[in-house]
Amino acid sequence: MAGKSNPVSSITSQCSSIQRSLLTLSSLTLVLFTYISFKSLHFPLHYNFEFNLINPKVVADKDLGDFSDIYHSHEVFRLNYAEMEKSFKVYIYPDGDPNTFYQTPRKLTGKYASEGFFFQNIRESQFRTEIAELAHLFFIPISCHKMRGKGTSYENMTIIVKNYVDSLILKYPYWNRTLGADHFFVTCHDVGVRATEGVPLLVKNSIRVVCSPSYDVGFIPHKDVALPQILQPFALPAGGNDIRNRTTLGFWAGHRNSKIRVVLARVWENDMELDIKNNRINRSLGPLVYQKKFYRTKFCICPGGSQVNSARITDSIHYGCVPVILSDYYDLPFNDILNWRKFSVILKENDVYQLKDILKEIPEEQFVALHKNVVKVQKHFQWNSPPTRYDAFHMVMYELWLRHLVIRY
Ligand SMILES: *[C@@H]1O[C@H](CO)[C@@H](O)[C@H](O)[C@H]1NC(C)=O
Ligand SMILES: *[C@@H]1O[C@H](CO)[C@@H](O)[C@H](O)[C@H]1NC(C)=O
Ligand SMILES: *[C@@H]1O[C@H](CO)[C@@H](O)[C@H](O)[C@H]1NC(C)=O
Ligand SMILES: *[C@@H]1O[C@H](CO)[C@@H](O)[C@H](O)[C@H]1NC(C)=O
Repeated sequence: MAGKSNPVSSITSQCSSIQRSLLTLSSLTLVLFTYISFKSLHFPLHYNFEFNLINPKVVADKDLGDFSDIYHSHEVFRLNYAEMEKSFKVYIYPDGDPNTFYQTPRKLTGKYASEGFFFQNIRESQFRTEIAELAHLFFIPISCHKMRGKGTSYENMTIIVKNYVDSLILKYPYWNRTLGADHFFVTCHDVGVRATEGVPLLVKNSIRVVCSPSYDVGFIPHKDVALPQILQPFALPAGGNDIRNRTTLGFWAGHRNSKIRVVLARVWENDMELDIKNNRINRSLGPLVYQKKFYRTKFCICPGGSQVNSARITDSIHYGCVPVILSDYYDLPFNDILNWRKFSVILKENDVYQLKDILKEIPEEQFVALHKNVVKVQKHFQWNSPPTRYDAFHMVMYELWLRHLVIRY
């Protein structure tokens, strides 16, 4: 392809040493990447320009509300979101046996409801296109959850997933254009994560939307998307404006299935101010005792679990309890949109030993601000069918929209 008109070759041919040409090449690459990342912001530059000159009248979006303090940039989010609503198109591969593994939406309840809601929502959304040429991204509708339900072994699941993906690569021209970089799949169950790990092409190149955004299972923050695990339907209504009822400083009850949980239980189990239970709450104590504790607590401790990020974070948000993230390895859902420090307390695992002092030192007015912001983010951590603006589905779509610009060959 390199001809005389090619700017790269004419510049490099003038350079006397290999080092200089490498330098030129790398600065060109840098310029190119800067350009791509600017473009990927989808921020109309002329608007940005005016933004600096005249004091802009910020256009309200009634569904977004005046919640400017919970986003990294309320304006960028609002504008880019509007652009997404207008333009974003996704092609869902129609292949696969609808009665077996791929097409059927998962049931919309239970631990992995997020997976089912996404499958259902994207089918009923405006983002779906039947015309692959118009698509920004391609959805590979794999649901390993169902295979697991049928007792398929991990080994066989991996083979099934691989055969399926291979068949799409053979049949359609889309994968080869980007080596899969504009393809994504969605799985909440860690079964799905494990099954797809047997297909290195898929894991390395495609966007993985998973409930296990842990770096130790190969999650790549800028490529992959953290899917919030949301246990819907919620057992009780959303909390909020109920600060006077929140008399317990901190609460956690659950299984000790990770190192940090073992330490948390060991250090604080018998504390008088922190309500830490080294086990699930026994149902014989009464109905919904666990959920009701979220209404009475200021700070709900969310230590990392085994693999799948726990539903405890979204439970805390739903019940109006400020989540305390106690984990070194998790990429928090919607991290590049929401400023988690405005509605949660983010700690290192090592902080577990000072947990009580850290929470007690948070001034009342700061707690009140955090609590109010928790209420503001509730709608982002909720699935609906059909989906509604700014809900969990649209937030996931927005994350995908941020990743849709890829190089095509
Ligand atoms: C795995 O696949 C093989 C070959 O199709 C089959 O014979 C075997 O029963 C399967 N095992 C499980 C646990 O699904
Ligand atoms: C995509 O590339 C693979 C590997 O080179 C090739 O086997 C396959 O036929 C290609 N797919 C299409 C649709 O051309
Ligand atoms: C506080 O708790 C009481 C007793 O459970 C309940 O009746 C009341 O509605 C709660 N207040 C708020 C604002 O939730
Ligand atoms: C729950 O409590 C009941 C009654 O106290 C007891 O018999 C049962 O073993 C407990 N269950 C668990 C899982 O601890």
